[in-house]
Amino acid sequence: MLGLFDSGLGGLTVLKRLHERLPQHDIVFFADQLHVPYGDRTPSELVQLLSANVEFLDARHVDAIVMACNTSCATAAREGWPPTKAPVVDLIESAAIAVESAGYKRIGVVATAATAATRAYTQKITGRIPTAQVVEVAAPALVPLVEAGKLEGDEPRAAVAAVCARLPRDLDAVILACTHYPLLDKHFAAALGDAVARIDPAIVQAERAAAIAAHEGFAAGTGSITCMTSGDPELFRAAVTKVLGNLPELTFER
Ligand code: DGL
Repeated sequence: MLGLFDSGLGGLTVLKRLHERLPQHDIVFFADQLHVPYGDRTPSELVQLLSANVEFLDARHVDAIVMACNTSCATAAREGWPPTKAPVVDLIESAAIAVESAGYKRIGVVATAATAATRAYTQKITGRIPTAQVVEVAAPALVPLVEAGKLEGDEPRAAVAAVCARLPRDLDAVILACTHYPLLDKHFAAALGDAVARIDPAIVQAERAAAIAAHEGFAAGTGSITCMTSGDPELFRAAVTKVLGNLPELTFER
């Protein structure tokens, strides 16, 4: 079984990629909606939440933790990972691999305030490509929109456009460095135009998770998806079903 956590609905964008790549593997996803948004929290709060979430998944004996929260990855990049028996598949490393393999040199990173403050993306990317130029922009307005289900219409379109207007013009690619943002991808596409590639780190991450699963010989299951939240279970069920569709393999636990 593969374990995922995020502050909220963003984790579903990772879950979707992972389930598409490893459809026979069981997935458990915890959304910590009681504490969303993580991106506005202090470093010490984020360390505590990271430890609690890793412990929670460890207690369920997951084979691997496939990170579904960039803010937690950025926290770990600065503070270190809490102890866990499970291998951790990181989002920021995955994004850096995607940038390197595509040969991009001028990169925009749109992230939560907490992620951008660590500069973890800049460090990981320039660690692989020393000549890369990386610009990180914090976008605290976007996660609340996604959590409120505002994916369509003028409000999210304008919010994404305002964020993209703060990026330099001549970028090769922009990393959607918060797992909530792929749910706003069409607004990013409209704001950035065709000349700028958009990177969802979860695509390379799913490949890395598949490689680890094959290498370590993780037992396949039935492809079940178990979702749980620390927030409102009924609102969560409705939001998950809206994003993933009515999949027969989807169940909810309290
Ligand atoms: N989706 C998470 C991330 O990737 C956290 C967003 C938040 O709660 O601020 O950073």
